Amino acid sequence: MIVYFNGNYIPKEEVAISPDDRGFLFGDGVYEVICAYSGRLFRSDAHLERLSRSLKALRIEEPRLEKLSDVARKLIVKNGLKDLDAKVYMQITRGAAVRDHAFPNDKTSPTVYAFASAFAIKESKWESGVKAICVPEMRWPRCDIKTVALLPNVLANQLAVEAGAEEALFVRDGFITEGAVSNFCAVFDGRVHTYPESHYILSGITRTVVLDLCRRLDIPVKEFPVAESRLKQADECMILGSTKEVMPVVQIDDMVIGDGKPGSITQRLQKAFKNEKLTAE
Ligand SMILES: Cc1ncc(COP(=O)(O)O)c(C=O)c1O
Repeated sequence: MIVYFNGNYIPKEEVAISPDDRGFLFGDGVYEVICAYSGRLFRSDAHLERLSRSLKALRIEEPRLEKLSDVARKLIVKNGLKDLDAKVYMQITRGAAVRDHAFPNDKTSPTVYAFASAFAIKESKWESGVKAICVPEMRWPRCDIKTVALLPNVLANQLAVEAGAEEALFVRDGFITEGAVSNFCAVFDGRVHTYPESHYILSGITRTVVLDLCRRLDIPVKEFPVAESRLKQADECMILGSTKEVMPVVQIDDMVIGDGKPGSITQRLQKAFKNEKLTAE
C-alpha cells in the first residue's frame, strides 16, 4: 500500500512516526474520512472544510503541503482503486515534541498521514436494516471536533459488536445525540427528527446531504433531540454516515422500530442518496 506521509508517497512499511508524536501521546490530532465512488470523491470540499474547522478548534496549524483533495486523488490512483469504491483516511496531529501537556514551540510541524483503501458496504444491511444499542454519553462536550481521541467511541462500538449490533447510540440527559460513527434520525408522523447542530454532535457530511434531500423531497425535518423514551413511538429510525450512508435501524436494544422493516421515508432517502453519489467528482 502506498500512503502519504508528510509530503511524500511511500510504502506503508516505510512510515516512521516518532514515539513523541502528540497524536500517539495525547490523541492530539484530527482526522477525516472521505468516500470515493469509482475513483470520484464525494463532497471532499465539505470534508476538508470540516477538517479545517477541527484544526482551528484545536489550534493546530494547517499544514502548508499539497492540497489534501489532490493527495486523496493520487492515493486512489497509486493504489489501483480508480474503478472501485474506496475510502480515504487522513490524519493531522500537532507533531512530535518532548512530552509536555502545553503546546510545543512554533517550530514543531504537524504530522500528516493519509491512506486509501477499498471499501464496500454490505448491501443486505440497507435492505434488511440493522440493530443499534443505546449507551450513556461518555464523550467530552466538543463532539463537533473530529479528533482522533476516540476512546468513548471505541468502547461504545465494542459494546455494539458484543451485542450483535451495528451501532451504539449515545444518550445524553435522556436524549439520543448520535452514534459512535454516525448521526441518528427518527421519523415520527412523516417528519424526520435529528439532534440539532451543536457541540454535542459531529456535523456529519452525510447528515447535511440527507437533510438537503429531505428539503428537495418535501420531507419535513425537525432538528430537535429525540428522547430515548420516545423511541418506541418512532415509525422509522436510521443512521447516517460516510461508512453507513442511509442505513435503516429496525431494532434498538430490545425494541422493534415500526414494523421491523426499513420504512418508506428511509427507502426514499436511500434511493435519493444513491443518486446523489453520482455527483461525486
Ligand atoms: C461521531 C460521528 N458522528 C457522525 C459521523 C458521520 O459523519 P460523516 O457523515 O461526515 O461521515 C461520524 C463519522 O465518522 C462520526 O464519527
